[in-house]
Amino acid sequence: MSAENASLIRLEDYRPTDYLIDTVALTFRLHPTDTRIVSRLSVRPNPAGQTGAPLVLDGDDLTLVSISLDDAPLAQDAYTVSPSRLVITAPPQRPFTLTLETAVNPTANTKLMGLYRSSGVYCTQCEADGFRRITYFLDRPDVLSVYTARIEADADTPLLLGNGNLVEAGARADGGHFAVWHDPFPKPGYLFAIVGGDLDKVEDVFITASGREVKVAVYVEKGKSERARYALDALQRSMRWDEDVFGREYDLDVFNIVAVSDFNMGAMENKGLNIFNDKYVLASEDTATDGDYANIEAIIAHEYFHNWTGNRITCRDWFQLCLKEGLTVFRDQEFSSDARSRAVKRIADVRVLRASQFPEDAGPLAHPVRPRAYKEINNFYTATVYEKGAELIRVLKTLIGAQSFRRGMDLYFDRHDGTAATIEEFIACFAEASGQDLAAFSRWYEQAGTPRVTARGIYDAGNRTYTLTLTQETPPTPGQPDKHPMVIPVALGLVGADGREIALKTADGAPHDGIVVLDTAEKTITFSQVDSSPTPSLLREFSAPVILDIDLSDDDLLRLFAYDTDPFNQWQSAQTVATRIIRRAVDDIRAGRTPQTPDNLVHALAEFLDARATRDPAFAAQVLALPGESDIAREIGSDIDPDAIHVARKTIRAGLGRALADKLAALYNDLAVTARYRPDAAQAGQRALRNAVLDLLTAGDPTRGGALAQAQFDSADNMTDRIVALATLTHVAGLACENALAAFAARYADNPLVLDKWFSLQAMIAEPETLDRVKALLDHPAFSLSNPNRTRALVGSFAMANPTQFARPDGAGFAFVADIIIRLDPANPQLASRLATAFRTWKTLEPGRRAHAEAALERIAAATPLSPDVSDIVGRMLD
Ligand code: ARG
Ligand code: ZN
Repeated sequence: MSAENASLIRLEDYRPTDYLIDTVALTFRLHPTDTRIVSRLSVRPNPAGQTGAPLVLDGDDLTLVSISLDDAPLAQDAYTVSPSRLVITAPPQRPFTLTLETAVNPTANTKLMGLYRSSGVYCTQCEADGFRRITYFLDRPDVLSVYTARIEADADTPLLLGNGNLVEAGARADGGHFAVWHDPFPKPGYLFAIVGGDLDKVEDVFITASGREVKVAVYVEKGKSERARYALDALQRSMRWDEDVFGREYDLDVFNIVAVSDFNMGAMENKGLNIFNDKYVLASEDTATDGDYANIEAIIAHEYFHNWTGNRITCRDWFQLCLKEGLTVFRDQEFSSDARSRAVKRIADVRVLRASQFPEDAGPLAHPVRPRAYKEINNFYTATVYEKGAELIRVLKTLIGAQSFRRGMDLYFDRHDGTAATIEEFIACFAEASGQDLAAFSRWYEQAGTPRVTARGIYDAGNRTYTLTLTQETPPTPGQPDKHPMVIPVALGLVGADGREIALKTADGAPHDGIVVLDTAEKTITFSQVDSSPTPSLLREFSAPVILDIDLSDDDLLRLFAYDTDPFNQWQSAQTVATRIIRRAVDDIRAGRTPQTPDNLVHALAEFLDARATRDPAFAAQVLALPGESDIAREIGSDIDPDAIHVARKTIRAGLGRALADKLAALYNDLAVTARYRPDAAQAGQRALRNAVLDLLTAGDPTRGGALAQAQFDSADNMTDRIVALATLTHVAGLACENALAAFAARYADNPLVLDKWFSLQAMIAEPETLDRVKALLDHPAFSLSNPNRTRALVGSFAMANPTQFARPDGAGFAFVADIIIRLDPANPQLASRLATAFRTWKTLEPGRRAHAEAALERIAAATPLSPDVSDIVGRMLD
């Protein structure tokens, strides 16, 4: 969008286009500052559109060089053109060919949308509306065309890639060369891509289930190809998994992935030519953490899975974004669960959901998983569409069962292949496959806000019954004051006093499957033949994206932590107790009292460390991490003082660290990995636990922890251990920290992705000097606001992951981030807008900080010029 004041686009206003474009033949003559694009479109009136309507093509920042219709130059009075629109006033009411030539400047394209250059590589990003920055087009997802792209370039750009299969390549008389790519699968413009550059690659051949050969390759900057091996392996495992689990085969002769260093998002699923932020491709044990490896695996899988959920079946309009994104996130989560530990993956995903989506759903940016209206679509690539969208697929699967779910997916692929579909069409497939009425379930897509479920249970010893009453309420969100009940599957079990699972029987004695579907405001269920007072374990595996309020005592919860058969709820129970304790500590601190670490949690963790921690190290690491500061802030919900939360959490952790010091020190020694580095779940889990142990130990005894961290930093043979040691040193501060930071920077001076970690760590230090440090780092020779990864590392980490310093009581943190947003916006509005969402919880702060946040937002809102992206986000936050 380049309009000054974007208007509201509404779902209810959808209507088909008046024209269709069956084929698109593009010729690119690549040039750093003057690339020419000739586009030949075969256009015909759409039977579903309005006869005789003008043909209105989208553009954004375009220069039209020439235009002809059926190969005859078009008279000037037959069309009107501006950088953002081309209108053919009275097009023929029969099929015709429209030929356009446009000129663009890839080097000047700082928005990183359309055709741009990143470290000398030509690449494209067309989702959501970047194709219109290449040529005038019906740039919307329901216009599907077959594309052929001819790319011409000089000899210094030897690699030329496009969508689909390579059909022709050769030399040109001028010393340059060309390649022609043809994609037989009809697609919308947002899936179009080309790449031109001089890159290295790793490649292999993948044999599909039906025996077809596919050449798979990952392209990266020269000299970095060894670091692309893991990505290539993850791709092949993804391809196999989609065959095995969803019955989906790949459909072209080649599948290419290209990594670029300047990218607004994670990656993009262009048909047969995925383009990635190199952060999610490049990995070696010396440069990437276990977490980086896991992210690479997940994102490679995500983009690959889009080939069926996104490309073969795309979205009718951008309101349906969750149709491809929520579903594809669900698929990549399942893939990672199968490749790693399902329970640990679930805990990690729920942590992300709560940290990123719950605050969105509870604040001024709340919107339904399928929004009803938007001003700027790029602001709707949100945690709600992606993460909550994935939860809804999980809810659906729980409601209808795994078999019906798979049948529904098969039906969806069958029925909608090659089309642009809607959420209604998607849900209809599952209603049909399961025979269930899913009308009430659909409400999840319409209604914003996180439902709050309250559970109250009564045990009747005389009748040996346990009666559970569940109620639900969804709070008002912008534009939605009144909410209807949602369909909430509550997976549950009853744990007996002896720690054993009680077999569930309904009131009439029949077996119960352990899923109560709460689909009304209140529901009561009675279980029979319960011999002793049970502890309910509710919302097992986090069976729905809700907030659960349950009246269990700390002792009840600690019993679940010890005995629950559901690992998620084991973790959740410890988490809930710790949250309560830290909240009480926050109250203590604000009232001037000194908080105490209670014995019950100490004992429970001591027992856990003795008996269970090393059985599943990755799980144990999640337990020891305890709730983060933003988790506590979210639970408190209003009048938040981030400093009090920081001190409270630190105090409680210090108490735990001291009380458990001996056990932690012993574990730290025992857990050392002696085998050669592997990024797999088992080894990563062991490192994660050892590093969580170090963290807690350091909380209790900074001197001792600092010494261990220093030794770990000096001897680490992998990035995971090295960066954790460095982070630990930044918590204990002092000269050791500064020396280690300097050594790290020197060692990785020529590795941008690792330097990002260095910038990020410093931006997250919870001390008042950090703001000055961050400001000074803006002038570091390696810093650049035009590289999104670098900006996210320094400014993003400060704004999103340093709650005490971003929300400094003097307002200087907010003011600094506001300044950067205003500076960044003219060059890269998408990045600026993302950064601005750091303010989304500003209304939950205590009055002093809230006033500073509001002033910073007002200042951004008043800046001119202001992009539609930032204007939309800031406008909604101030509403
Ligand atoms: N479809 C991509 C993915 O999730 C995201 C691209 C979003 N890009 C954008 N500029 N809004 O895999
Ligand atoms: Zn996606």
